[in-house]
Amino acid sequence: MRGFASDNYAGVHPEVLAAIALANGGHQVSYGADVYTQALQEVFRAHFGPAAEVFPVFNGTGANVTALQAVTERWGAVICADSAHINTDECGAPERMGGLKLLTVPTPDGKLTPGLIDRQAYGLDDEHRAQPQVLSITQSTELGTLYTPEEITAICDHAHELGLTVHMDGSRIANAAAALGVPMARFTTDAGVDLLSFGGTKNGLLLGECVVVLRPEGVRSIRYLRKMSMQLASKMRFVSVQFEALLAGDLWLRSAAHANAMARRLEQAVRGIDGVSVVRPVQANAVFALLPREVSERLQKRYRFYFWNEATGEVRWMCSFDTTEADVDGFAAAIAEEMAA
Ligand SMILES: Cc1ncc(COP(=O)(O)O)c(C=O)c1O
Repeated sequence: MRGFASDNYAGVHPEVLAAIALANGGHQVSYGADVYTQALQEVFRAHFGPAAEVFPVFNGTGANVTALQAVTERWGAVICADSAHINTDECGAPERMGGLKLLTVPTPDGKLTPGLIDRQAYGLDDEHRAQPQVLSITQSTELGTLYTPEEITAICDHAHELGLTVHMDGSRIANAAAALGVPMARFTTDAGVDLLSFGGTKNGLLLGECVVVLRPEGVRSIRYLRKMSMQLASKMRFVSVQFEALLAGDLWLRSAAHANAMARRLEQAVRGIDGVSVVRPVQANAVFALLPREVSERLQKRYRFYFWNEATGEVRWMCSFDTTEADVDGFAAAIAEEMAA
């Protein structure tokens, strides 16, 4: 099956699979005291600076919930876009498992700005209001858009002035760096981001994400919170070695740049089809489009993809590290055929 439903429909990159097999010799100390997890600290520091500390976890929801708990008190709240994955697609885990209140803000494009943050950053010191303590942004966003490094710097400066910690959901951080053409530190550590959920699964890992502490001041007890949040892998070496394979060389960048290029190719191909409109800027590896619902439903019998908005009929097409030009061209041809039918 080939499709455009999600970048996590893709399998495991062969270089990652080979690394897992290599790590499968002999015994290693469990729960992160293995040589792979130890080495991973340096790998992350090479990307994010000498203060970075990395905590591998199983999945993105777990990374987000663990990270957000580490920078909030029991009365704390998280400001985020209403389209944020933590708000829309984590089954309420930040609220129920993390005990956090989410203060959401509508945005036109999935991106917060200092002005939008201010819509929820009030009542600081008011005991009647859950206290905004963290700001969470997603890069690239759930709507396939990107923050520039300057935009993130401005957001972090503003958040810090308000006393908020900044968390980034970097489930697709590699796609963002590849598209912006800058090192990942440029729009994280250097921009003032305090804490990061670093994505691996969507960029060719079998499973695994990491919580990365970029600025340790104010971040507490991740070790305990990770375990309590059921995110501590006993055979952690197999999670860690995948990140080493991804990040020690340029696999992270090659894979993400390829996924982005396939999204651009798809965008160009469908722009020429009458009746199909691309409704959001294609800045990373997602294409959002509007076309007649019955056409989408026929297409879904041939290729997997999701309706993003059932009410409007907007659909989302995701590209991944293993999407081929032939996949894109075949899909675009199928769209043209179904539009003409
Ligand atoms: C923006 C974003 N954050 C986090 C996640 C992590 O999700 P999961 O818990 O499925 O690994 C996803 C997955 O779709 C995502 O799109």
